[in-house]
Amino acid sequence: MAKTHARFVCQSCGAATTRWSGRCDGCGGWNTVVEEAPRESAPGGLATASRKRGRSIEYASMDGPAEGAPRRVCGIAEFDRVCGGGLVPGSAILIGGDPGIGKSTLLLQVVAALAGSGTGAPACLYISGEEAVEQLRLRARRLDLSQSPVLLAAATAVRDIAASLDAAETPGIVVIDSIQTMFVDSLDSAPGTVSQVRASAQELIHLAKRRGFTVLLVGHVTKDGQIAGPKVLEHMVDAVLSFEGERGHQFRILRATKNRYGPTDEIGVFEMTDRGLMEVPNPSALFLAERRGNVSGSAVFAGLEGTRPLLVEVQALVSPSSLATPRRAVIGWDAGRLAMVLAVLEARCGLALAGREVYLNVAGGLRVSEPAADLAVAAALVSAASDQPVPAEMVVFGEIGLSGEVRAVSQPEVRLKEAAKLGFTRALVPPRRTRPGEKAKEKREGGDLEIQEIAHLQDLVARFAAEGPRRSSQEPERRTVGGG
Ligand code: TYD
Ligand code: MG
Repeated sequence: MAKTHARFVCQSCGAATTRWSGRCDGCGGWNTVVEEAPRESAPGGLATASRKRGRSIEYASMDGPAEGAPRRVCGIAEFDRVCGGGLVPGSAILIGGDPGIGKSTLLLQVVAALAGSGTGAPACLYISGEEAVEQLRLRARRLDLSQSPVLLAAATAVRDIAASLDAAETPGIVVIDSIQTMFVDSLDSAPGTVSQVRASAQELIHLAKRRGFTVLLVGHVTKDGQIAGPKVLEHMVDAVLSFEGERGHQFRILRATKNRYGPTDEIGVFEMTDRGLMEVPNPSALFLAERRGNVSGSAVFAGLEGTRPLLVEVQALVSPSSLATPRRAVIGWDAGRLAMVLAVLEARCGLALAGREVYLNVAGGLRVSEPAADLAVAAALVSAASDQPVPAEMVVFGEIGLSGEVRAVSQPEVRLKEAAKLGFTRALVPPRRTRPGEKAKEKREGGDLEIQEIAHLQDLVARFAAEGPRRSSQEPERRTVGGG
């Protein structure tokens, strides 16, 4: 069998080639291919003779006991929920996020909470390859955690770390901050390269499974949102959590993007304060805190993140443009979806937006990815274009189809309940989905909310047109470039 002499490895997808190239053939990334020392020898296939020496594996039935050791709950509810109800012993969790977003802070708080949880608390280790022990202590003092029994270490050599973890007394939780600083001395390449990151992670994960501790790996994220270098790392671990937030905003969101032990659509919301990360048990109230009532271009979207409803304000600004290609800018939402909503408004509802600049912002630094936000975005846009406010006590949700129809979304009751809880009294929603053979009910469940169903985007535009713009008497449809 031919040996691989590959020495050039893409730092993004891990594809290996024998020649350097500016663009990786595997993932198409530019300038991601880096020279690495060759592997000592690639393992060949199994020869027939050696295959005979293998022991046969044992099979088990599906109805046996499934309970392993109990999960470890740290008591920071936002973290526990994203993990699927606590940390599973023997599992590996990767926590990704931009530098400075608060990964180290979060994990220090989590292990301190775990270590200080009274009798039966697991022994917790925090191993940092980025900061010295004194720095970690300073952080702990600032977070008011210096009394907690977490053990700190500054180390980067995986061999040393593995040797001490393999000692008789195995800890319960180990944090490795960050996996990009770790190195295995049998490889020549520098720490942070794909092969080093992969080998270090493999070693630590293997040990975690064998000794039954939970390992939390911190991973830095590259510019395009991938966990630095190896996508491969995501396959090796049991759960991938990403810690996100807009710089300049104090909100941080922990999101599970992969979880072998729980759901992947849960989020945890935190607020970065000068005493560390605080849980935000009622994020809707916080995201809406700075909303000003009765301004045009603002609509409240009743969204859903995982099992939890979340109300956010969608803001739009439509302004005249002197550019041949007017500017379109989006923060917190998908630019492609904005283009679609604009095209539907233009083509199906006759709203002239082509010559005007459009800005869209999800207030508070949250990223919304649900298509259910379409109708709220459209409402904000039509409201901005007609200078007619969406009623301040109204929430909006619904998906928009290409013909302008408003489509039903998942779990409307949960969304409406949250809106009612926060004092909203009206809701603009898609028509009720009736299954074949089922008669449409007269009244729908909406608690104390006044429900207004909207079947087509035209009806939305008509609502604003009927009330007329506040300052100008022109109808929005007839406005042209530079008008208004
Ligand atoms: P850090 O956890 O070091 O980020 P990461 O490990 O993801 O790189 O957090 C860094 C930022 O958090 C830093 O800019 C300061 C801020 N911070 C606070 O605002 N309050 C605090 O109590 C702490 C510890 C950090
Ligand atoms: Mg850090």
